[in-house]
Amino acid sequence: MNTVFMHCRPGFEGEVCSEIAEHAARLNVSGYAKAKPSAACAEFVCTEAGGAERLMQRLMQRLRFAELIFPRQWARGSFVELPETDRISVILEHMADFPVCGSLWLEVVDTNDGKELSNFCKKFEGHLRKALLKAGKLVENADDKPRLLLTFKSGREVFLGLAESNNSAMWPMGIPRLKFPREAPSRSTLKLEDAWHHFIPRDQWDDRLHSDMTGVDLGAAPGGWTWQLVNRGMLVIAIDNGPMAESLMDTGLVQHLMADGFTFKPKQPVDWMVCDIVEKPARNAAMLEEWIGEGHCREAVVNLKLPMKQRYAEVRRLLDRIADGFKARGIQVEIGCKQLYHDREEVTCHLRRLDVKKPKSR
Ligand SMILES: C[S@@+](CC[C@H](N)C(=O)[O-])C[C@H]1O[C@@H](n2cnc3c(N)ncnc32)[C@H](O)[C@@H]1O
Repeated sequence: MNTVFMHCRPGFEGEVCSEIAEHAARLNVSGYAKAKPSAACAEFVCTEAGGAERLMQRLMQRLRFAELIFPRQWARGSFVELPETDRISVILEHMADFPVCGSLWLEVVDTNDGKELSNFCKKFEGHLRKALLKAGKLVENADDKPRLLLTFKSGREVFLGLAESNNSAMWPMGIPRLKFPREAPSRSTLKLEDAWHHFIPRDQWDDRLHSDMTGVDLGAAPGGWTWQLVNRGMLVIAIDNGPMAESLMDTGLVQHLMADGFTFKPKQPVDWMVCDIVEKPARNAAMLEEWIGEGHCREAVVNLKLPMKQRYAEVRRLLDRIADGFKARGIQVEIGCKQLYHDREEVTCHLRRLDVKKPKSR
């Protein structure tokens, strides 16, 4: 039980290592991070003799999963080698010291090899579940108990781990199964929906995303993100020199302005600003700080593209700069940042001003 295993987007293993190593150092957890390039996973191995489990617990308790930027999923545990037959007995043997678990997820890493193992997992899951229930190691749907997470690297090797269901990914492998809405003008519509699932608790959607609200979409064309705002009934100002989908304009809820997203400001404050402009991340981050800081919007989702090498260091630097900016202004803002499943070489930031009341109804 001495390793934290994390899933990530293939190619971002180094970012996961830098991020977890920084947190571990801050929390005084000794160990080292390691990953293979393009493996879609990374590990943090605790090195303190005897104290590994206690340290793991502390790492898990002090660090909320939702605050991590690059890991999609995590679990504490260890790798187990499996025989070709009767894998279940070996898994049960290794679970001698495990607590009773409240749910079971079988996962694979997000690579082609991983995908090939999915069918095996589907077949294996029923048998394993039955055996765990019989052995008293699993009870169904008990959220107060840890989740048992098995990540198969192959049919012969599995990471056997635990994570609290309220402090780990909301979906197996951290991948939300979102259905592309056929009426939306572009696939990137799913990025904004993914962001809402991640940053806004589902039971708050009706209060924070509703038809009395207004929004601005910077870099809106053809309108995938605008579609999400309109789908919640909002009036939207869409800023882009490119054309917006006619179907969206026909809703009567969208005003399309051909203007520069970096200079446009709304005459009245709006509830939401979203921005998907492909630009230097420092420029998008500065714009985000200005919109929230000057009170042009109360809540925002902005994509930061990451074409550089030191991607974790760059994101950290920008987030710190944004936080310092709000401190200097003396305003309270909730800041979140995640590489979502639908993000590519980018991360999504979510900001929410906490010290202003809802400004107006439209
Ligand atoms: C990735 S696309 C946006 C896709 C959109 N979010 C969707 O879901 O359909 C980026 C858009 O930003 C626009 N853009 C680039 N620079 C801009 C600027 N300075 N001001 C406004 N729009 C800009 C481009 O014309 C392009 O349509």
